[in-house]
Amino acid sequence: MSTDTLTFPDGFIWGTSTAGHQVEGGNEFSDWWAWEKKGFVDDGTVSGRAMDYWNRHEEDHVLMKTLDYKGFRLGIEWARVEPTKGCFDLKVIAHYRRILQSLRSHGFNICLTLHHWVLPQWVADEGDWLTPGTVDHFLGYAAFVVEELGEFPDFWVTLNEPMVPAIMGNFLSRFPPQRHSIRAYRAVCRSYLRAHAGCYKLIHRLRPSAPDGSRTKVGVAMAYPWIEPWMSRGPAGWYERLAAFVVRRAAFQGWDHSILTGLSHWIHGGPAVEGIKDSYDYCGINYYMRASLKFDRRIRSQYWIDDTKAPPGVEVTQMGWQIFPKGLYCTICEVWKRFRKPILITENGLADDTDSQRPRYIIEHLAQVHRAIREGIPILGYFHWSFLDNFEWRAGFSKRFGLVAVRHDDPELRRVPRPSAHLYSKIARTNSITREMVTTYAPELVESVFAELDERRTICV
Ligand code: BGC
Repeated sequence: MSTDTLTFPDGFIWGTSTAGHQVEGGNEFSDWWAWEKKGFVDDGTVSGRAMDYWNRHEEDHVLMKTLDYKGFRLGIEWARVEPTKGCFDLKVIAHYRRILQSLRSHGFNICLTLHHWVLPQWVADEGDWLTPGTVDHFLGYAAFVVEELGEFPDFWVTLNEPMVPAIMGNFLSRFPPQRHSIRAYRAVCRSYLRAHAGCYKLIHRLRPSAPDGSRTKVGVAMAYPWIEPWMSRGPAGWYERLAAFVVRRAAFQGWDHSILTGLSHWIHGGPAVEGIKDSYDYCGINYYMRASLKFDRRIRSQYWIDDTKAPPGVEVTQMGWQIFPKGLYCTICEVWKRFRKPILITENGLADDTDSQRPRYIIEHLAQVHRAIREGIPILGYFHWSFLDNFEWRAGFSKRFGLVAVRHDDPELRRVPRPSAHLYSKIARTNSITREMVTTYAPELVESVFAELDERRTICV
């Protein structure tokens, strides 16, 4: 293997990721839509027409194609498909069909998410995931989508980061429905486990094969932040270690335990969920950052833990998140050891309006993916978050994650690829990271990125 190039396996999927509510626009029958209108978004914006992907999807697909991207992750919005209880909107499903058909005709590998946090308002009104019937309603919606659109996805994501809305919406009160209750958090987690298990089963029943004839691939896009205690001195340090232990379990270890063993985890409580064991065909990893948990007696609402601070000298993104590429490698290794299933990086990226950090971020994180591949871990692809700038939930439009810039207040919503979009394009086209690319886009990394490529340690891929 050349020590000037990181070459990825043949057929590696170079994709980008989005979610319906964040880019489509007009998701008006949803709980987030109503919540945004109440003024809860930090910058005062509402998703509104978002990036109008709903109408401009063809233009976006052509741009992705021009950039040589190979895969696309998108979502279906439950609130659009079933705006009122029991009534499926056939026009909406026909529109999604056109979107997927367009992706297929451009030759993209399709990764389809069935639920990315947003609920129909009628589900929210009935008590969202706390109401026992919600899981059955969700499975009804999922079955309808799988029947109607099941011929398209190469990968299915049943739920996006289920633990994030469980914690943010039920425990920390930062997302709708803004509860502050451990009990609600645990009940919602149990509903998500049931929703995933049911969905896994029904997709396999209705669509046993993927478009290429292989076995259908179903998984979850799981958020795996790298969580560490700050390590203050004295009792504060003990509290931080305890917090890190609990937060890791709440964020992903409890969930992973149930998938692996079929048993319920103490963090969620309740009985074991039928069908949950082994309900992954691949492991979806969403990785962004390291969080260092610091004791702060002033923030009672967050149980005296501040997760927003970075240790001195650590670079942060526009979100204030610590950039920690090695965490991606460590996460891949942990997930691989735990499940022994192929891995798909379903999200990785950063908010960076000026694109001053993104090229470096991409190269450094991909170098960690390559390192894991060299060690023999089967990684199928990488989907960068995000293709376009989009509606960043509570942060509104002020945080820009796109390879392609779009300003929500531009009447034309022009798509302007950032330099990193072109870097990613070169990587996708050549299926590799070359010394020349690193020299052009992130010269300070040249030595470190290729340092480990010595012939004796390298497994050719
Ligand atoms: C979510 C995305 C979000 C991104 C950046 C992920 O946790 O799946 O919807 O935009 O992080 O915050």
